[in-house]
Amino acid sequence: MEFKGNLRIFHILQISLLLLLGLWTLKKAECRKVRILKESSVYSSTNCRGHTVSLMDFGGVGDGVTSNTKAFQKAIDHLSQFASVGGGQLVVLPGKWVTGSFNLTSYFTLYLHRDAVLLGSQDINEWPLIDPLPSYGRGRDKPGGRYSSLIRGSNLTDVVITGDNGTIDGQGAMWWQKFKSNKLKYTRGYLIEIMYSDQILISDLTLVNSPSWNVHPVYSSNVIVKGITIIAPLRSPNTDGINPDSCTNVRIEDCYIVSGDDCVAIKSGWDEYGIAVGMPTQHVIIRRLTCISPTSAVIALGSEMSGGIQDVRAEDITAIDSESGVRIKTAVGRGAFVKDIYVKGFTMHTMKWAFWMTGAYGSHPDDHWDSNAIPVIDRISYSDVVAENVTMAGRLQGIQQAPFTGICISNVTIGMVKSKKPAWNCIDIQGVSSSVSPQPCASLPDQGSESRPCPYPTDRLAIEDVEFTECSLETTYI
Ligand SMILES: *[C@@H]1O[C@H](CO)[C@@H](O)[C@H](O)[C@H]1NC(C)=O
Ligand SMILES: *[C@@H]1O[C@H](CO)[C@@H](O)[C@H](O)[C@H]1NC(C)=O
Ligand SMILES: *[C@@H]1O[C@H](CO)[C@@H](O)[C@H](O)[C@H]1NC(C)=O
Ligand SMILES: *[C@@H]1O[C@H](CO)[C@@H](O)[C@H](O)[C@H]1NC(C)=O
Ligand SMILES: *[C@@H]1O[C@H](CO)[C@@H](O)[C@H](O)[C@H]1NC(C)=O
Repeated sequence: MEFKGNLRIFHILQISLLLLLGLWTLKKAECRKVRILKESSVYSSTNCRGHTVSLMDFGGVGDGVTSNTKAFQKAIDHLSQFASVGGGQLVVLPGKWVTGSFNLTSYFTLYLHRDAVLLGSQDINEWPLIDPLPSYGRGRDKPGGRYSSLIRGSNLTDVVITGDNGTIDGQGAMWWQKFKSNKLKYTRGYLIEIMYSDQILISDLTLVNSPSWNVHPVYSSNVIVKGITIIAPLRSPNTDGINPDSCTNVRIEDCYIVSGDDCVAIKSGWDEYGIAVGMPTQHVIIRRLTCISPTSAVIALGSEMSGGIQDVRAEDITAIDSESGVRIKTAVGRGAFVKDIYVKGFTMHTMKWAFWMTGAYGSHPDDHWDSNAIPVIDRISYSDVVAENVTMAGRLQGIQQAPFTGICISNVTIGMVKSKKPAWNCIDIQGVSSSVSPQPCASLPDQGSESRPCPYPTDRLAIEDVEFTECSLETTYI
C-alpha cells in the first residue's frame, strides 16, 4: 500500500461511524478511489492508556520528506496533560515519517503501526547538541557534548515504545560516513535513549540503521526490551544493539539482532567519571536472544564498567557468525567490578572465540584515569554451551596484579576449526571446569564430570514477574 501526501488520515478511535460515513460520502464525491480502512488490533503492554491521538492530528505528514519533529513534540506535549488521568498514547499510522529528535513524557505510549516507518532526519540540526553523560565525562566518539538521540526521554515514569513491528530507521549512513572520515565534531546520537527513568518497555519494533547504539537505557530501573528486531550493516561503526548502562532490573528477551558491533553490551560508565557517579548495572536477565555480530560480541560486559556490573543472567542464547560469545572487557583505570555473571544455554555457530575476557582493553576518556583503580572480576559461570566451527575456544586474560577469579566453565562442547594454535589461551585467571571439550587450560582444572555444574541463581529477579496486559486499539483511516 502506498501512502502519498494527498491521502489523509482523518481519525483514529472515538469516531462515530455516522460521522465517518458522512466524511466518506463527502470524499467520495471528490474522488472515487477513497477507501476506508478500519482496524481493530490488540497488543500487549505493561500499561494501556486512556487517551489516544494520531500524529496526523498534530500536523504530521507521512510522505517521507516533510519533517515531523514539531508534530511529534506537539502531540507528546499535549498528551503529557493526561499523565495522572489514564495516560496518553500517540499512534503513528502507515506512512514514512521523517523526524529529528523528540522527547517523550511519562505515563505514555508511542505506538507504531506495522506499516509505519520513522525516518531519522538527514538534517544534522534536527539532532540538537546535549551534554555528555556524567558517568562518561565526554562523548564516546569525541570529547565534549553529543548529538541528541532520535527518541529520548529523561526523568520519566512508565514509558512504552511499541507497535505491531513498525520500523524506526535511523538512516545512519550519513553519520557513519561522517564518523569514518572524521568529519563529526561531536558524538553521534542513538536511536532510543532513556535517562533517569523508571518502568520502561520497548517492544515489538524493528530498528534499523541507527547512527550509533540502538537502545540505550541509562541511570534507569525496571527496563524491559522485548520482541525487538535490530538490523545494522555488518560494517557500520558502533551500531550496538541494546546497551543497558548504570541500570537496575533489566529484562531483555526474544530479540533478534544483526549488528556492526556488540548485540548486547552491559555498561556502567567510563574510568574516573564512572567511578565518581558509581551507578552499577545489576539484576539483568537476557534470554532468547539471537545475534549475528561478525566483528564483536553477542553479550559484552564493558568495556565501560566503572560503576560496576553485578548479577547478570543469560539463558537460551544463539550466536551465528560472531566474533565472540561472551566478552568481558576492562582495563586498569576502570575500577569497580564485574561479578556474578551467569550464562547457561548457549548455541554458537562459526565463532572466532567462544569466550573472551581481557583486562587490557585500554581506551580511556582522557589522561586523568587512576592507575590504582583496578577492576575486580569474580564469579563468572558459563554452562551448557554447544559451539561449532570455532577458531579459538577461549582467550581469558586477566590483570597481573589482580587475576580474574571464580571462573567456572561446565558442560561445554566446542567444535574447533582445524588449527595449530592452542584452543585455550589463559593468563592471570583462576577457576575450575568440568565436562569441557576441548580440555581447557591448566588454570581451569577439571573437577570431573560428577562434580556440581557451575552455579546459576535459583531465585527470580523482580523484573521477571512484571506482567503484560492486552490493550485494544482501533484505528480508522481513509
Ligand atoms: C528535551 O528535553 C531536554 C532535557 O531533557 C531539553 O533540553 C530539550 O529542550 C527538550 N526538547 C524539547 C523539544 O522540548
Ligand atoms: C533528572 O534526574 C537527575 C537525577 O535525579 C537530576 O540530576 C536531574 O536534575 C533531573 N533532570 C531534570 C530535567 O529534572
Ligand atoms: C518484524 O519485521 C522484521 C523486518 O521485516 C522481520 O524480520 C521480523 O521477523 C518481524 N517480526 C515479527 C514478530 O513479525
Ligand atoms: C549439557 O548442555 C546441554 C545443552 O547444551 C543440555 O541439553 C544438557 O542437559 C546439559 N547437561 C547437563 C548434565 O546439565
Ligand atoms: C566455518 O568458519 C569459517 C570462518 O572461520 C567460515 O569461512 C566457514 O564458512 C564456516 N563453515 C561453516 C560450515 O559454517
